[in-house]
Amino acid sequence: MANTIRSRLTKKIDLSDEISSFTFEAIDGVFDAFDAGCHVDVVLGPDLVRNYSVWEWQQDRKSFSVAVKREDNGRGGSLAMHHLQEGAELEIAGPRNNFPLQSDDQPVVLIGGGIGVTPIYAMASELKKAGREFRVYYLVRSKEHAAFHGLFKDLDLGANYQLHCDDTDGYLDLQAFVQSYPENTHYYICGPEVLLKRLQDVSGEQVRGIVFFERFSAPISSAEVDNTAFTVVINSTGEHIAIPSDESILSVLNSKGFDVHYGCSSGLCGSCITDVLEGEIDHRDSVLDDEERAEGDCMCVCVSRAKSEVLVLDM
Ligand code: FES
Repeated sequence: MANTIRSRLTKKIDLSDEISSFTFEAIDGVFDAFDAGCHVDVVLGPDLVRNYSVWEWQQDRKSFSVAVKREDNGRGGSLAMHHLQEGAELEIAGPRNNFPLQSDDQPVVLIGGGIGVTPIYAMASELKKAGREFRVYYLVRSKEHAAFHGLFKDLDLGANYQLHCDDTDGYLDLQAFVQSYPENTHYYICGPEVLLKRLQDVSGEQVRGIVFFERFSAPISSAEVDNTAFTVVINSTGEHIAIPSDESILSVLNSKGFDVHYGCSSGLCGSCITDVLEGEIDHRDSVLDDEERAEGDCMCVCVSRAKSEVLVLDM
């Protein structure tokens, strides 16, 4: 992976039974500036790169922390992270931000569900420092899963912070919830797909503001689409490369020695966005917005494919 910085794990602490915080420090060089909502790509093995939201960082751009939930039946990234010991060295790329806070003065409501709280905590921390008004809701199954509760308490947000536990408080009534905020509210939400879908369902009719959201798992229906084969052309060399129906552009290009930057491999992080010069894209990511899709000049090569027979990539 290109543009990585060798980094050392300097602190690993358990925030709950299943969530740990990992603080990394650059061994040489500095990262680009961190901001609320950003993530980094952690290289955990030759074919194991995972992107994690940054929840705190130092202004010297050398040190930052991510929090990772251990998924015993996941794809291996979280277990690899949890097996790391302090002192471990690895490559890290980024930060990159697909989920930035807007700099205007609209009312802000932050909603973090489960481990999706990590960028939400960073936003709360930044908004508090900037003296802006906001409310934050932390949604968890039960209090023992509320790994960031103590950190939020330390922010001293008073009544503007609310912990919502499904087991004692029931499911949050999103409809009533969004109706209680003014028309120009900006909602920032990160959480499980089911939570995002519930808010999107409600938002069609009820939300009188703008919803910004970030996924950490693929949309529910993304696996149900048929794939066809097509060809990509590398613009700089004219090389034609066949993409079979059962492989992604990313995997084919990297198997042929191209060094395409990537993170989640699931259309969630934007690390693999590649410029497209010709051809019609079949967008399947959760990163690009409607305007970027309509422009048709870039794509996430990890999941998106071609509607035309040929795509010309600016590589
Ligand atoms: S690698 Fe994350 S969007 Fe493609």
